[in-house]
Amino acid sequence: MRRELSLPLFWRVCLINGAVFVLGTLALVLTPATVSARTLWSEVLVLSLGLAVIVALNAVLLRSVLRPLDRLTAVMGTIDLRRPGRRLDEDGAGPARPLVAGFNAMLERLEAERTASTTRALHAQEAERQRIAQELHDEVGQSLTAVLLGLKHAADGASPDVAAELEQVRDTTRTSLEEVRRISQRLRPGVLADLGLLNSLSSLASDLTARTGIPVTRGFLPGLPALSREAELVTYRVAQEALTNVARHAHAHAVELGLTRRGDTLTLRVADDGVGGADATAGAGIQGMQERARMVGGRLELRSRRGAGTEVILELPVAEPPS
Ligand SMILES: Nc1ncnc2c1ncn2[C@@H]1O[C@H](COP(=O)(O)OP(=O)(O)O)[C@@H](O)[C@H]1O
Ligand SMILES: [Mg+2]
Repeated sequence: MRRELSLPLFWRVCLINGAVFVLGTLALVLTPATVSARTLWSEVLVLSLGLAVIVALNAVLLRSVLRPLDRLTAVMGTIDLRRPGRRLDEDGAGPARPLVAGFNAMLERLEAERTASTTRALHAQEAERQRIAQELHDEVGQSLTAVLLGLKHAADGASPDVAAELEQVRDTTRTSLEEVRRISQRLRPGVLADLGLLNSLSSLASDLTARTGIPVTRGFLPGLPALSREAELVTYRVAQEALTNVARHAHAHAVELGLTRRGDTLTLRVADDGVGGADATAGAGIQGMQERARMVGGRLELRSRRGAGTEVILELPVAEPPS
């Protein structure tokens, strides 16, 4: 049964055409239809009729074979690799079954490859950040510490005037050292593994308030799905960059940080009531968020009219049903 079903399309078409030719020939042999040397009008009429029947029969038979191909083509156009897991129905494909099976197998491979390359890219990015964090901490951090010690030593033996000036320089250096430590801390994704996504987001919000005094309203709706590590990382990094932008550029009085789910889409939203007018082409931050979103099949939207605040919306596809 299976063998018969999976007869290649070429042979199906050949068989159908062959059968139709045989029928036509039989009709000529078995009926009294004849063609004289000087063809008569009545004969032309009979021949035309016969030809029309043959063409129609051929069309009907071929249609049943080729129709599923058109359906297949239509469905192929709607397949979206960013929403993985969709497969074409093999059972309903009729003679196109081998083609559908081949297409499904190809989807399987493409999705696996996509997941693997996303994972590789994200981990490479994180490893790079980790390396930069380490170097900042070890190299710049150590040098600044040495400078601080040197300044203290110099101040000890200096006149009060010079000592006061050196104390100011020490203050600036101390601030720089703290800044380097903070940047280094931010570059590491450590909190995510330790605290989980929601707590990490919460801690980003608290950090912003502690640094700038801007209150952050959190809205994490229940029923959030378990995310892949990559999706969590992207969500965290996007929230981090968006909140950093609020602190740096927005002059905002209030911020909203929300994580919600509707259907098969998870939405992270960071909205401020600041100056707006953010420009994706101006810096690497917004572009980085967009790139990360794409890596995990998501989408990043930036709404930022001048004077009307800024909204960063990250949408990620989620496969699991709500918990
Ligand atoms: N929340 C915001 N409010 C106002 N302006 C913003 C905001 N976020 C970003 N911007 C503007 O958009 C530009 C691009 O942001 P980004 O790509 O993150 O680069 P960077 O933060 O490194 O400058 C910023 O330089 C800033 O002028
Ligand atoms: Mg930025």
